Order: sequence, then structure tokens, then C-alpha cells
Amino acid sequence: MQNTSLTLEWVSRHYDKIDPFSIDDYINAGGYAALKKALTMSGDTIISEVKASGLRGRGGAAFPTGLKLAGVKNSVGDIKYLICNADEGEPGNFKDRYQMEKDPHSMIEGMIIAASAVGAAKGYIFIRGEYNRSIAIVKEALRQAYEKGFLGENILGSGFTYDMEVLTGGGSYVCGEEFSLIECLEGKAGHSNYKPPFPTEQGLFGKPTLLSNVETFVNILLIIDKGAEAFSKTGTETSKGTKLISLCGNVNRPGLYEVPFGVTIREIIFDLGGGVPEGRAIKMVQLGGESGPCIPESELDTPLDYKAMNDKGISFGSGAVIVMDDRIDILDILKKIAKFFLHESCGKCTPCRDGNPHVLILLKRFESGSATDKDFAALKSLSDTMCLASTCGLGQAATTAILSVMKYFPETFATVSDR
Ligand SMILES: Cc1cc2nc3c(=O)[nH]c(=O)nc-3n(C[C@H](O)[C@H](O)[C@H](O)COP(=O)(O)O)c2cc1C
Ligand code: SF4
Repeated sequence: MQNTSLTLEWVSRHYDKIDPFSIDDYINAGGYAALKKALTMSGDTIISEVKASGLRGRGGAAFPTGLKLAGVKNSVGDIKYLICNADEGEPGNFKDRYQMEKDPHSMIEGMIIAASAVGAAKGYIFIRGEYNRSIAIVKEALRQAYEKGFLGENILGSGFTYDMEVLTGGGSYVCGEEFSLIECLEGKAGHSNYKPPFPTEQGLFGKPTLLSNVETFVNILLIIDKGAEAFSKTGTETSKGTKLISLCGNVNRPGLYEVPFGVTIREIIFDLGGGVPEGRAIKMVQLGGESGPCIPESELDTPLDYKAMNDKGISFGSGAVIVMDDRIDILDILKKIAKFFLHESCGKCTPCRDGNPHVLILLKRFESGSATDKDFAALKSLSDTMCLASTCGLGQAATTAILSVMKYFPETFATVSDR
């Protein structure tokens, strides 16, 4: 992590400063003080603070976290569950891995606080199966948290009992999607489902479940620590706090950066990332990962802000910024993205299962120079249909890149009648 005038160390405040294998290091740096504070607060007070902070989920969908907490607290169930989504399957993202490898306890502490607020008795951390180091570190961190009395029966004498364990994924991208993830935890093959009911009402084993991203749980801890008012002073009117950015691709200084909301994509790429190697020009930048939009150089002054991006019909997902210089072949990139979604589709619903192979067939026609105007119309209508009619976010976002290229780089889709 680099400390500059554009960066802030909130979520990342302990990275490389404490030993992730040592709970004592974390406690000496102020760790578990927010939990002690939270255990003196009522669930409603904690939730009011999170609502007042303006925090929105950092897993990609940006749902207001306070509302989600309230949804679980107000749902009826003989047991409630909490799930931390650490699957991080979206290509280009690596922020959750950093968090778990450099400071596992902030995530765990945030989870215990959230569990106490909603009344959850059992929590799971669902970690991407390939993240061997994260899995080892988080398991050891949980062991130490039990040893210190931060987990288990009657936590710190508060009367609150809460248990947690690690479960791992099998490498499927769709199992990061909340319904598929829940099915996976239940021992089934991960398939998504129609909403409602939402997991807040009927989640794991049909019980009310709070499912949030790693970075979201760390932010819950920060809100209790700093107070909602102080937290919400950072960022913009519509986007509060900071965001971890996974910067990668053709950039001089790729890596993880934490920035307050409001900085522009250009500042992230040039001021933090040092620009493009050999002074080459930027061809396009994909935001969020494979499921995100591709924007041209002319849109780089867009600030990192939910509303500003939404007004332009784009989003930043969970914070990947993938830079591509002028040597790339856009059709080739789109083909690779289409292959990814074709491979990862769970096959449950028709628009995604049958749409993805056809997207690839049409892209190949453009690549070979044989595409007609009819092929263009078919690709556009298929992309729109998948976006509107797929059951889950995988199919809904599979053609986001294609639709953004149609908007910003229409010359990519030359047909025989253009020649
Ligand atoms: C195909 C697909 C994959 C997803 N993968 C992840 C993931 O790896 N991590 C994650 O936090 N959210 C992922 N999500 C979003 C989750 O469904 C869910 O919205 C999120 O975990 C909620 O957490 P939040 O409220 O903290 O953002 C994925 C969504 C889709 C459609
Ligand atoms: S959109 Fe794709 S991944 Fe999601 S349920 Fe349908 S087939 Fe499965």
C-alpha cells in the first residue's frame, strides 16, 4: 500500500504494520475495542449508526448495509446466520485476499459486531478455494479469537454467544453470488434463484441470514469505532467512506490502493498507478472486473461515486480498475470475457445458458469480418435480453462489456456493409 495525498488508510490501516498471525499485535494496535463498545450497545443502536453512516455493500451491488442489517434483525427465525462473502471470483479483484492475508481480525471483529446487532448465532466465512494463504491465516485468527474469548459462549461476559467457522469454495465464479453461495454452504451444487424471498428473510437453511462482503464487515467495525458522523464526513454526498481499489493491467504501479470516494479514475490510474508503461495511450479501462463496463480515455475524469457513475450508466462493482493500452484488440478481449461467462454459467436459466454460446458465435463473426447488420442487431438484442431476463447477476452482467463497447467503441462492430 502506498500512502499519498489521494489515499486514506482506514480499512487498510493495519496492513504490513501487524503480524496477521498475531492477535496480540492486533489488540495492541487497538483491535477488539470496537467490539467491546458494540457489546454495550443495543442491536438497534448499532444498526442506526450503520444506517446513518451511509455505508453501502462493497461486494458489487452496493446495497445499503444498514437496511440489510435491519432486514435480518426484523426477520423471525429460531436461529439467524451470518455469512462473510470472501469468494472473490471476479477477475481483476484481489482486495479481499489482501484483507485476509494482512489483517484478518478486522473482518472477524466486524462480523462479530454485525452478528450481535442482528442476533445471529452462527457465522461462516466462505473463502475462495484457491486462496490457500488466506484460509490458513483466517483459520488461525479464529482459533486465537476463541482463545481470547471474542468468540464462543458468553463473549466477554456480555451474554452474547456466537460461533464462527471457515468454509471454502470449489472454484466456481457463480458461487460468489449470494443464492448460489448459500446453496453451496448447504452442500448443494451452487445455483442462483429468483428474489424474493431475500436471504435476509430466508437464507441459509431457510433462516434469516446476513450475507456481506469482507470489506463491508471491516467498514461496520470502522463505523462503530469512529462513529457514523465522522465516518460519513469522508467521501461524497452519495458515497461515504473509502474504497479498496484493485488496480491492474497495463499500468506502471499495479496494486491495491485505498481511496476516499470522489477521486477520479484518471487520478487512480495516473497519480497512484503511475500511468501506462512506455507512455502508451489508454485504449479502454474495464471497471469492476469481467462483469463491468469498458470505458474510453475520455470518461476517465468520472469520479468514484455511485451516483455520478450511475448517471453515466456505468458502475465500479467491487473496485477493480483494469487498464488496457492501445495494443489491445477489443474483439479479442470481448471474446475472452464471453468464454469466461460461458464457462461459469450454472446453466439454470435459458437466457444465460443459451445466450452465452450465441454471444460467442456472433463475436467470432465480427472477428472473421463476415458479420452482417443482422448479426449486429442480433448481438444487441441478445445482450439486452440476457441483461433483462437472466435469473442472477452472472447472466445479467455477462454482456455489460459488449454493450459498453457498442456505446463507446462502435467501430469495433464493423459489418460487411461498412466495407
Ligand atoms: C456471479 C456473481 C458473483 C459474485 N461474487 C461475489 C464475490 O466473490 N464476493 C462478494 O462479496 N460478492 C459477490 N457477488 C455479490 C453477492 O451476490 C452479494 O451481493 C454480496 O456479497 C453482498 O455483500 P455486500 O452487501 O457487502 O456488497 C457476486 C454476484 C454475482 C452475480
Ligand atoms: S443467470 Fe446464469 S448463472 Fe445465473 S442462474 Fe441463470 S444460468 Fe445460472
